[in-house]
Amino acid sequence: MKLERICKNFDEIKVLHNFSLNVKDKEITCILGPSGCGKSTLLNIIAGIIKPDEGIIGDNKKKIGYVFQEDRLLPWKTVYENIKLVNKKASDLKLKSLIELVGLTNFENKYPHQLSGGMRQRCSIARAFNFQAELLLMDEPFKSLDYDLRINMVKSLIDIWHQWNNSVVFVTHEIDEAVLLGNKIVVLTKNPCTVRNVINIDMPQNIRTLEDKELISIRTKLIKILSKQKDIKETSEFKSA
Ligand SMILES: Nc1ncnc2c1ncn2[C@@H]1O[C@H](COP(=O)(O)OP(=O)(O)OP(=O)(O)O)[C@@H](O)[C@H]1O
Ligand SMILES: [Mg+2]
Repeated sequence: MKLERICKNFDEIKVLHNFSLNVKDKEITCILGPSGCGKSTLLNIIAGIIKPDEGIIGDNKKKIGYVFQEDRLLPWKTVYENIKLVNKKASDLKLKSLIELVGLTNFENKYPHQLSGGMRQRCSIARAFNFQAELLLMDEPFKSLDYDLRINMVKSLIDIWHQWNNSVVFVTHEIDEAVLLGNKIVVLTKNPCTVRNVINIDMPQNIRTLEDKELISIRTKLIKILSKQKDIKETSEFKSA
């Protein structure tokens, strides 16, 4: 999937300007960038929810799954029904195993309002896994989860991705998630959103740990890049105050 010279303005705000990105087949592309830079807008454009003002989206997939930044469960359906909804042919066994994978066993028959924010988010993830998309878009999917759950979800995503061999675009603010998951990590800038850095990681995901020397050095590099952005932002805010 290729984005070429995408432009998108909201009123006077130039969110994306001549933005280009290549998402390779069967890879996990992680996107990091400051809050408000345009990550969700980017995913919405890939999903076809928002039309760009200019630019081309080439080789896009037909079957696109999307875990939104906020969960979008149907409030009148249970956990089980919400997950089943996107793939009605899924067997009871498969649905139960997905529910177990996201740690919601015994909550199958609860409604979204009876769940915590993190549980609702995990239900959305199980629903996306059940959809078996060719291209899975995930917008900060693990943000409401504690550390253990996050790491478990990262492992589950890697397992599922290995089984399907699909492409994933994964937006996150968590550097650890990006280094554990990404074949490619794309760091974005703000105003307008452009690609600041691209880091490729060849090491297979299933053998990665946060103790790996290579990953530690990538992590350090990413912290430097991202904190530089923060310094720039803080300086300009300070000046305008
Ligand atoms: N529907 C809209 N109408 C007007 N402005 C919008 C709309 N959607 C997004 N924006 C603006 O576009 C910019 C990018 O928003 P977006 O949600 O894509 O950022 P983000 O990178 O996902 O941020 P975060 O990390 O906080 O989720 C922001 O300035 C936001 O105010
Ligand atoms: Mg967002």
